[in-house]
Amino acid sequence: MSEHLDAKAVEVLNTNDRGGYTVPTARLYPYQWNWDSAFVALGYGAFDRVRAWTELEYLLEGQWGGGMVPSILFRHNDPDYFPGPSVWQTQSSGQSVPPMPSTGISQPPVLASVMRELVASGDDYDLERAAQMIDQVAGWHEWFQRDRSIDGVVATVHPWETGRDNCPDWEIGLRGMEVDKSLEPYQRKDTEHADPRQRPRQDQYDKFITLVKFARERDWDQRLFSDESPFLMADPGIHFILLRANRDLLELAEQVGNTAAVEKLKPLIATAEQASQQFWDEQLGAFTARNMRTGEFSGGVSNASFLCFYADIGTAAQRQSMMEHFERIQKSVQFLMPSWDPAAEGFDSQRYWCGPVWPQMNYLISQGLAEQGYSQHAQRVKQDLSQLIQQSGFRECFDPLSGEGCLGTEFSWTAAIWLAWASPNKQELAA
Ligand code: DGY
Repeated sequence: MSEHLDAKAVEVLNTNDRGGYTVPTARLYPYQWNWDSAFVALGYGAFDRVRAWTELEYLLEGQWGGGMVPSILFRHNDPDYFPGPSVWQTQSSGQSVPPMPSTGISQPPVLASVMRELVASGDDYDLERAAQMIDQVAGWHEWFQRDRSIDGVVATVHPWETGRDNCPDWEIGLRGMEVDKSLEPYQRKDTEHADPRQRPRQDQYDKFITLVKFARERDWDQRLFSDESPFLMADPGIHFILLRANRDLLELAEQVGNTAAVEKLKPLIATAEQASQQFWDEQLGAFTARNMRTGEFSGGVSNASFLCFYADIGTAAQRQSMMEHFERIQKSVQFLMPSWDPAAEGFDSQRYWCGPVWPQMNYLISQGLAEQGYSQHAQRVKQDLSQLIQQSGFRECFDPLSGEGCLGTEFSWTAAIWLAWASPNKQELAA
């Protein structure tokens, strides 16, 4: 069974390969996505190291002059996707002209941690490839600190930047903003390719597009976007992933003797560690998203909350409280880890980031739990994903109550996470 799935996962990646970069799935997401590509490289790493590094190099080709690596690279124009390059219009920005059409926001920076993972499971070849990328990746991490941070907290100006597009975490931020009255009528494409009940709501899309228009009118000046955006929230996902990525990049920089990068990264780590406490909601007893304009917490535990372990953050009491949430949530679902607490307002077991289990999040959460000594919990998170894939295939995400697959099929990061981690044969494949 798992041999068959291993072969099928390789086939999924090869089918979605567009020659140097891989689309998440045909039609619904027809371009190169940032964190998708990073996870995809882990998958290629199980059977083709050269292809793994090429995926990452292609991603960095889209890096802006200011350091940002965008969430989507539009290497061609595909009328099947909205909003495409003609909506973002980043190339006509007077700031630092992006090297290719792209969005004007970033995504969770898992790249450095993937590089470290490939190096740890590889040889001199992998270290050499990683060494060539360290400065560029450090530049991206510095960008987060320079253009997206408020007092050390990495904030976000757009739910799409978090990768957790319609998570109820963002409701308090979206509620506080208006839809631009002069927004031109537009036609969504996502709801033509997927069940609209599983995609973000129309009122959310109107605000997503309003935010794109807002930044476009500010010429994609990234600091200005952060300073003035009607939506400004702190995301535990980006913050914890970036903190971890900085540590992983520091380790790589030390390994290859890149002292300039080492000196850049150390203060970024110290600042992020200190700022992490700003995500702690004492009333809920959890790390959560927070509105940077009002100080209000989102009021619910998401799967990103559990990345505190991955980032090695929290006092003993805070960790204990997070584990109590883990145990409670575990009792309310069949499969961990739902993207939103089933007991919180807004939970919907099949709607995108309002409840479904996400493969790449389970991978990160489980890794963090294992590192912090919660090995049984880590194993459960891994087992559940493995079972979901065996039962429902390489779907984009899964219903935590029924195990049903949701949204995209033949999905790249699901195949990649299977090959790199969730497959029982992972070790043999990598040999
Ligand atoms: C989408 O189109 O749903 C993407 O998540 C945006 O990045």
